[in-house]
Amino acid sequence: MRRILVTHALPYANGPLHFGHILEAVQTDVWARYMRLAGHECVLVCADDTHGTPMMLKAQAEGITPEELIAAVAAEHRATYAGFLIEYDFFHSTHSAENREMTDRIYRTLDASGYIARRTIRQAYDAEAQMFLPDRYVKGTCPRCGAKDQYGDSCEVCGATYSPSELIDPLSVVSGTRPVERESEHLFFRLAAFEPMLREWTRSGAIDDSVANKLDEWFDAGLRDWDISRDAPYFGFEIPGHPGKYFYVWLDAPIGYMGASLALARRDGLNFDSWWGPDSNAELHHFIGKDILYFHTLFWPAVLTGAGFRRPTAVHTHGFLTVNGQKMSKSRGTFITGARYLERLPPEALRYYFAAKLSPGVEDMDLSLDDFVSRYNSDVVGKLVNIASRCAGFIARGGGRLAAELPEPALYAEFAAARERVGALYERCDFAAAIREIAALADRANQYIDAHKPWNLAKDPARAAEALAVCTQGVNLFRVLITFLKPVLPAMADRAASFLGQPLRHWDDVTTPLLGSPLAAYEPLATRLDSKVVATLVEAEVPAAASTPAPVAATAPAAAPAAGPKAAPAAPPAEITVDEFARIDLRVARVVAAEFVDGADKLLKLTVDMGAEQRTVFAGIRGAYAPEQLVGRHVVVVANLKPRKMRFGVSQGMVLAASGDGAGVFLVSPDPDAAAGMAVK
Ligand code: 2FM
Ligand code: ZN
Repeated sequence: MRRILVTHALPYANGPLHFGHILEAVQTDVWARYMRLAGHECVLVCADDTHGTPMMLKAQAEGITPEELIAAVAAEHRATYAGFLIEYDFFHSTHSAENREMTDRIYRTLDASGYIARRTIRQAYDAEAQMFLPDRYVKGTCPRCGAKDQYGDSCEVCGATYSPSELIDPLSVVSGTRPVERESEHLFFRLAAFEPMLREWTRSGAIDDSVANKLDEWFDAGLRDWDISRDAPYFGFEIPGHPGKYFYVWLDAPIGYMGASLALARRDGLNFDSWWGPDSNAELHHFIGKDILYFHTLFWPAVLTGAGFRRPTAVHTHGFLTVNGQKMSKSRGTFITGARYLERLPPEALRYYFAAKLSPGVEDMDLSLDDFVSRYNSDVVGKLVNIASRCAGFIARGGGRLAAELPEPALYAEFAAARERVGALYERCDFAAAIREIAALADRANQYIDAHKPWNLAKDPARAAEALAVCTQGVNLFRVLITFLKPVLPAMADRAASFLGQPLRHWDDVTTPLLGSPLAAYEPLATRLDSKVVATLVEAEVPAAASTPAPVAATAPAAAPAAGPKAAPAAPPAEITVDEFARIDLRVARVVAAEFVDGADKLLKLTVDMGAEQRTVFAGIRGAYAPEQLVGRHVVVVANLKPRKMRFGVSQGMVLAASGDGAGVFLVSPDPDAAAGMAVK
């Protein structure tokens, strides 16, 4: 038995999980589930990545503490991962006592060993907001090509890289003022000291050769010291002995893998050092996306080594996910959140599709919604489940018990023997090839049943035993296949196990067929995906009450459940009296600003001018309107709605919108005369 610790990248605690996160979690979970099924001890830990400037600013913008933001997002993340059947042994937070303990310990050891340098650097400083600005929080004109509105580290137009001080007309994203330069002492991790070790480790089989080649480019460019400190104000862990200085989020984020393991070890009485100690005989596998390669294949093994811990056994790197051939983007509607999917569709369909597309390389992969529907319906419903459903009825009629022997043991043995190949493919993260093998076997199982036509045999009482034999063979072939798919379709496999009357406990159990035992009544194991429902994943959002052309409040519900509102069946609208209606104070207002709300895929934040005052209103119309379409438009506002505190800020009113028969949601516009009157007020 091997002992294995597995992680995937820690999601930032400042927004919802999107399909990219789900892809990575599914990849990791399938691998871990396979390892467990193959009889190994395999522990999966994760955490929310909670520190850094974006977290701090986001909490500020919402008028809540970072801790409150973390708690809200953690609940949402946990619910979404659970919805996709990701099985964690521990899901923690980097803002935890265990992570602080590990980070301090690692820092002190690195410092005592001479791996920490101190240097004064000059950095952009926002005098108004009184904070140093990360490169991405300075914007200005590119010094090379003159493109406006570029980030402080690189130009998205010409690709130039530079420092914020080189930008023409730089502005702080935080206050909008021009940043100044200020000096500050920072702490640096001496990465170059680990170059020989890293060169060796990267060629030890820990990473794919294509990835190692990328690393060679970095070695050739020279390894530079890594700045691990940030000045207050910063949300993170204060550095021991350096008041007002904080650990950079990317130092304590991977240490979060250890923090989560430590919390697990303490909860369950396990040995932390047996995973992380220098003499650990366990394997350590990280799953990540290629965008964070540098952190995991250079800094991380160097930090671990410098602090006296073991190095990762493997860093498995995947490419980016595109949706319908396009980069995931909020404005194109291809930014699909996990919660949005779970409101509509079964988790295992997506697990299956992702698995069917995942190979070990770093190539990007595309989720084509049409392909998703046809692949799942044809492979899982049409081929796999079909085997069981075709055979179940005849066995039930024949007494509900499997025959005592297989009519074609050689065919069964071939299926069972495929476990070596399929298992090796799972282990190598070549799930796509594993799924192809399994689908080919499912074809053969169906061909076997087609050739023997149990439906004909069953008509003839003299041949009932033959029909039972054929179906016993079919059910046993199905059992092999659903065992092979258990890492991908764990819930379906459990339901299949109930039908089979025996748990699917171990990969190698398939070597022995199931004979003479009773089967439970067959319940459908999967249903076809409806392509119309799947299409709504990327369509503009229609509010739940949209079935009758009635006014709908476009303000998002204040107390939406963490995982997003469930699509409730439309109930008949409750009646209100004229008097109740008369209490509503409707006013014409002009939208003066509209913006996306990070972390809320249905909301826009509107600033509306009501003549005497401006108000902030959060409106659930993001799926139907782009912010730039709204600025300057006149809308109707419920002015006397009690202000509502939402996760993103306070909503001071409601913008009216109405929906027509599934056609979408439309803002209610005042008569142009009213708007004109309003404009001159
Ligand atoms: O890129 C990201 O989303 C980071 N939150 C990943 C952190 S992985 C690990 F280092 F913690
Ligand atoms: Zn440029």
